[in-house]
Amino acid sequence: MLKKLDQTRSKAIDELSSLSDLKGLEDWRIRHLGKKSALTQILRGLAALPSEERKAVGASANEVKALLERHYGEKKETLKQEAYQDLERTLTVEKIDVTLPGRPISLGRLHPTTQIVREICDIFVALGFQVVEGPEVESDYYNFEALNIPADHPARDMFSTFWIDTEISERPMLLRTHTSPMQIRVMERTRPPVRVVVPGKCYRYEATDATHESMFYQIEGLAVDENITLADLKGTLFEFAKRLFGEERKVRFRCDYFPFVEPGVEIAIDCFACGGAGCRLCSGTGWLEILGAGMVHPDVLRRVNYDPDVYTGFAFGLGLERILMLRYGIDDIRLFYSNDIRFLRQF
Ligand code: DAH
Repeated sequence: MLKKLDQTRSKAIDELSSLSDLKGLEDWRIRHLGKKSALTQILRGLAALPSEERKAVGASANEVKALLERHYGEKKETLKQEAYQDLERTLTVEKIDVTLPGRPISLGRLHPTTQIVREICDIFVALGFQVVEGPEVESDYYNFEALNIPADHPARDMFSTFWIDTEISERPMLLRTHTSPMQIRVMERTRPPVRVVVPGKCYRYEATDATHESMFYQIEGLAVDENITLADLKGTLFEFAKRLFGEERKVRFRCDYFPFVEPGVEIAIDCFACGGAGCRLCSGTGWLEILGAGMVHPDVLRRVNYDPDVYTGFAFGLGLERILMLRYGIDDIRLFYSNDIRFLRQF
């Protein structure tokens, strides 16, 4: 029995010296001083021993216990000290300066085109128009035919078209070349009075350069009712030009040709860069063309079963990138959709 105690003691002391953390120390305590340890078993079994042996073994067991407990206490202190020093070392190395200001979160912003869509739609909403949107994949009928541009019409040359190779439809399909097809779609599904603006993407099969992109935005406008005249067109677009470009702007109306309006007009504002004197922005003319418009052609009305003797209307269409380029003096349309954050951040 005494021998066993001796073994227990030296084993425990041996193990203790190789411990390096508090978790290991706790395991050690359970192993050598816990309820199931050899030492506790010996102490528990004392009563069963013959009295002379009990005395010797008891004294020795208690000694071993006191010794192990003392070693345990000392080792615990040392390990605690070490852990604390470790922590201190880590804190010095991985120093965090909690007084440093936070890093700013970089905020996104609306694309300049989205901004101008909203701005222009707001102006027309204030003038009593509704905002609607339509499909970018269109049929030949809505994009051309219904707008008085039959297959053999020379005006098709104005639109280099992306045709779609498709089996879903009998009719030829394409990427809309302008937002005007929505005039037809809106009139087909409503009766007058109609007052809508239609923002959206358009596509043309163009060689891109500083003023041409194969994808761009337009806003279409349409008003149809009884007694609408060219005076309403002028009043509305005059007001629009002033709200967008400033109260002091002059607006010029001139004849132009678009197959789906009669008469057709082109609207320009006096150049805000030079006040009309002539400069680089207005190519020396003093005027900036901003949109095409006209009185809805009677044939277009007839096609959607509007009686042209009862109803008349005006329509207009404008390119948004052009408006932005004029407003901000941007000299290359390709900047809008090339995703250069240095450009986009300026708006
Ligand atoms: N759709 C024409 C284009 O893309 C623009 C246009 C001109 C629209 C006259 C109109 C209009 O509604 O009346 O070139």
